[in-house]
Amino acid sequence: MYPGQLNHARGWPAPGIAVRFQYESHDADGQWWRSSVLRQGLFSRLWPVTEQARKPFLYVVVCAAGVAEGVGALITLAQERDWDVGVIATPLATGFLDTAAVEKQTGRVIRSAWRSPGDPRPFPDPDAVVVAPATFNTVNKWAAGISDTLALGTLCEAYGLGVPIAVLPCVSEALAAHPAYQESLKRLRGMGVRFGEHSFGSPVEGGFRWEQALELLDR
Ligand SMILES: Cc1cc2nc3c(=O)[nH]c(=O)nc-3n(C[C@H](O)[C@H](O)[C@H](O)COP(=O)(O)O)c2cc1C
Repeated sequence: MYPGQLNHARGWPAPGIAVRFQYESHDADGQWWRSSVLRQGLFSRLWPVTEQARKPFLYVVVCAAGVAEGVGALITLAQERDWDVGVIATPLATGFLDTAAVEKQTGRVIRSAWRSPGDPRPFPDPDAVVVAPATFNTVNKWAAGISDTLALGTLCEAYGLGVPIAVLPCVSEALAAHPAYQESLKRLRGMGVRFGEHSFGSPVEGGFRWEQALELLDR
């Protein structure tokens, strides 16, 4: 359904790389709809104005690094800041998580695989995306535009959606020295992706700074 008439438009100070404008309009039945237009001039999906009362939705993409077991701390911090959180884990990352605890905390299933055609979309569109921890593997594949896991597909698409993306890499110094990784960082930074400090150690040794992901979104 598309609006018959544009009644109102106002700037939307969305953080991130894309300037978005929000439009409200009503259809012939008098139902009000709201949509946003991305920088590229494309309409995102339309939704009834009444649904807009929902909390902003944060995708937390989790990769298969040792610190992933502590992602509950990030979810708590995000929920304290009034984010509704959905976790998308790489297939290997599910083995690093207490999946039952994370699902209880978010009130949603952890997504790791694509849905079947015809199934409803399990999560709303994201208002922001955090990748924490981000692995060497996922950072390189994401920068190369590879989309062979749901996590990677989500990250590749997030750029086009124009939502802010914050990354906390957990990559050893030896791996980070690889030229391909340095090229990946350069490319992603050029796309507006916000990187926190690199963490090289275990959660105990390194003190993984989960809160940094949310600080990056506040910029
Ligand atoms: C116990 C353990 C800890 C790991 N920690 C890291 C890490 O901190 N950073 C990293 O880039 N890879 C780490 N790896 C290797 C990744 O799990 C591996 O590269 C995997 O392919 C990443 O998959 P993903 O990017 O799809 O999550 C670790 C592997 C194991 C078994």
